[in-house]
Amino acid sequence: MGRRVLVAGAGAVGSVVGGFLAGAGHEVTLLGRRPHLEAIAARGLVITGLWGEHRITRLAAVAVGEELAGPYDAILLTVKSYDTAPMLAAVAPLLAADGCVIALQNGLGNVEQVAAAVGAGRALGGRVIFGAVVPEPGVVRVTVCADPIALGAAVAGVARAEELARAWAALFATADVPTEYTAALQSHLWTKVFYNAALNPLGALLERPYGALAADEDGRAVMDAVIDECFAVARARGVEPLVPDADAYRQLFYGRLVPATADHRSSMLQDLERGRRTEIEAINGCIWRYGRAAGIPTPVNATMTRLMRFRERRAEGRGRA
Ligand SMILES: NC(=O)c1ccc[n+]([C@@H]2O[C@H](COP(=O)([O-])OP(=O)(O)OC[C@H]3O[C@@H](n4cnc5c(N)ncnc54)[C@H](OP(=O)(O)O)[C@@H]3O)[C@@H](O)[C@H]2O)c1
Repeated sequence: MGRRVLVAGAGAVGSVVGGFLAGAGHEVTLLGRRPHLEAIAARGLVITGLWGEHRITRLAAVAVGEELAGPYDAILLTVKSYDTAPMLAAVAPLLAADGCVIALQNGLGNVEQVAAAVGAGRALGGRVIFGAVVPEPGVVRVTVCADPIALGAAVAGVARAEELARAWAALFATADVPTEYTAALQSHLWTKVFYNAALNPLGALLERPYGALAADEDGRAVMDAVIDECFAVARARGVEPLVPDADAYRQLFYGRLVPATADHRSSMLQDLERGRRTEIEAINGCIWRYGRAAGIPTPVNATMTRLMRFRERRAEGRGRA
């Protein structure tokens, strides 16, 4: 039976997942910004790239301020991390009593906010490791896919949420969105944050692709230190990353992850170039805050965060000018 799904933040990730769910017969509403939604209302949503060519017409598109008709069986939270709180406040009341919110975002602290808003029994998250862009309104392109989405309960061991996560992981996969259930969502989210924390701000600050950062001995030294701090904070919080220690992670990082994305330009750099905010607070900023709370020094993550804040303020100024 088709489920009622609200995509809260219909940008790149939300449009791809929402589009495939609609294509599989679910009743999907996209909540987003006008130009994208108007193009979808006029011509349908076009999905291109790695997962084939599709035009999805069975989609409702709702812009901010318009009426939303809950309740929804699932609300996909697909805004950038800095928009998590206001978006949750707006959509949490629309969730069905037996529904769930699924955060599909990078960074730390998002699924915790979901659990606080709707209860741990209805709070799920996914580690997303496919790439998507919106090249023009109404069109999304899937650019890469390193692994299936790892979908699980925000808080491990909450039986109701784990049952919902199993069901929705199966439902995503049936709709052709590669997805697997995980009982260890936090391990997946943290391990992805290590990659983002090391590469994203440095790539933005130095304006160099990932391969160039790893090829430079000073770039490497900075990233090595970021990774050490991330592992120390994870350990202090009782998180078990997918890789046992910082040295093993660096082997994976320099041996496989960076070579596979050597030409990649940091998304934080792209945000700055557009005069927009970045997700620094949910990545290095969160490592810094969590470290401070646990008494773990994180000077390199703190410096990355401060430098990125400085760049954000400059980029905003240029945007306004
Ligand atoms: N794209 C990727 O390849 C990728 C891969 C892995 C993980 N992720 C993560 O997935 C999350 C989503 O990323 P994304 O690239 O899909 O972001 P995105 O393209 O910026 O999509 C978010 C959309 O939500 C909109 N939005 C924000 N607040 C809204 C509101 N109150 N009402 C309606 N619409 C609102 C945004 O509009 P405005 O921009 O106008 O505010 C934007 O169109 C992020 O945490 C990101 O790090 C992305």
